[in-house]
Amino acid sequence: MSTKKNVDLLVGAQWGDEGKGKVVDMLGSDVDVFVRYQGGANAGHTVVSEGQKVVFHLLPSGMLYPGKLCILGNGLVIDPEQFLNEVNELLSRGQDKARLAVSPHAHVVMPYHKMLDRLQEEARGKGRKIGTTGRGIGPCYVDKYSRSGLRIEDIINADVLREKLTYILEEKNQIFTKLYNQRPLAFDEIYEPAKRWGEEIAPYVDDTRKMLRLAVDEGKHILLEGAQAALLDIDHGTYPYVTSSSTSASGAFTGTGLAPNDLSRVIAVVKAYTTRVGEGPFPTEDFGEDGEKLRANGGEYGATTGRPRRCGWLDIPALRYSMELNGANVIALTKLDVLTGMGGIKVCTSYERDGENLTSWPTDTGTLSEIKPVYEILPGWDEDITNCKSFDELPENAKSYVKFIENALNVPVGLIGVGADRMQTINKGM
Ligand code: GDP
Ligand code: IMO
Ligand code: MG
Repeated sequence: MSTKKNVDLLVGAQWGDEGKGKVVDMLGSDVDVFVRYQGGANAGHTVVSEGQKVVFHLLPSGMLYPGKLCILGNGLVIDPEQFLNEVNELLSRGQDKARLAVSPHAHVVMPYHKMLDRLQEEARGKGRKIGTTGRGIGPCYVDKYSRSGLRIEDIINADVLREKLTYILEEKNQIFTKLYNQRPLAFDEIYEPAKRWGEEIAPYVDDTRKMLRLAVDEGKHILLEGAQAALLDIDHGTYPYVTSSSTSASGAFTGTGLAPNDLSRVIAVVKAYTTRVGEGPFPTEDFGEDGEKLRANGGEYGATTGRPRRCGWLDIPALRYSMELNGANVIALTKLDVLTGMGGIKVCTSYERDGENLTSWPTDTGTLSEIKPVYEILPGWDEDITNCKSFDELPENAKSYVKFIENALNVPVGLIGVGADRMQTINKGM
């Protein structure tokens, strides 16, 4: 008889910043292994515990729990400088480094990727810009797929690094000088810091796939933490206004080496309204006072870039699409408290285009920019809910809002966030 598997996958259901970090941290007390598997330091996952706020960009949001294994899987693109900063920050808080493992197959975000990210955005200009985080994510994944990337295993070996970087820089310098009219990069200005990063990262490098395999087979509780979210998925998101990785559930398998039948449960994190950072379609965006109020009440400013987040209402067809893509079993509904005092709460239930009613999420960007949301207005509430500990304590209209979402998406809500702190969470049935 094999041991029962206990692997949870947590994914964002909208355009990111749903509160994934908080939910991971909140669920963390009985988790044995925390894993990040895609994206890079473009993520900003906030954890608030006992008044202390920590934002994780690369490390899993479970890092604050002492003694638990934290893994950075092969699907990540790792900015070594950011990684070392985050690790050193945690070590200075007395955390133990023995419990952190990095896949040798993860790719390295090099300084030239960040430069290219910026130059490409500038070249796209107004109207075509993606609004990236500038963290070098796209250019790094391009190199991965064109097979000219550097992996963690390459930078921890100075000879391999020297050999690979020599031909990589020749090509990059052609791009910098001929396409972007920039000065060429000198070999040593890239090689020397990369070699140092490699030396510092080497102690963390391990066979993370094998470690995870063993942990799964032993029935350990594993929490796979997605970054970004389904509508930013490179294949299924609002292309080209997406990030460069597979942010919906399937990315967890390529990004770790686990198999689809290892999964026990998919937790979709849904913010009680919608936000988006960067460019691209957002049908339920509110440009008026309500949008401003959501931004102010929800503190909707980017955890990575500080940019004001675009704010608007819940979009049911978009979420149905997201639930399908992710195979969501349960929803963690975050930031319900932010809707307190909003008056009537708008929920988009379908769209209108040229007099036609569309009930499902249009997946082509052209249609997405033409549709107008059709709203139902649900009654709001004014009571402070930030101290509510159970579903029953919530005001009737807040309960109705939650039930409306469950019915519309046909997925149960298991957790409800009523504040940023780890403790401000209602367990409705996780
Ligand atoms: P992530 O990228 O999905 O991890 O989300 P971010 O950390 O970028 O953004 C979520 C923000 O909302 C953070 O500032 C969190 O501290 C905060 N937050 C998370 N859950 C709740 C909640 O239920 N209520 C409130 N008011 N804030 C929350
Ligand atoms: P978390 O994990 C919100 C957005 C950027 C931009 C697009 C591409 O905190 O939810 P990139 O730098 O990835 O090439 O940018 O994706 N984006 C995010 N938006 N939350 C994130 O992460 C994001 N990571 C990237 O704003 O529109
Ligand atoms: Mg974030």
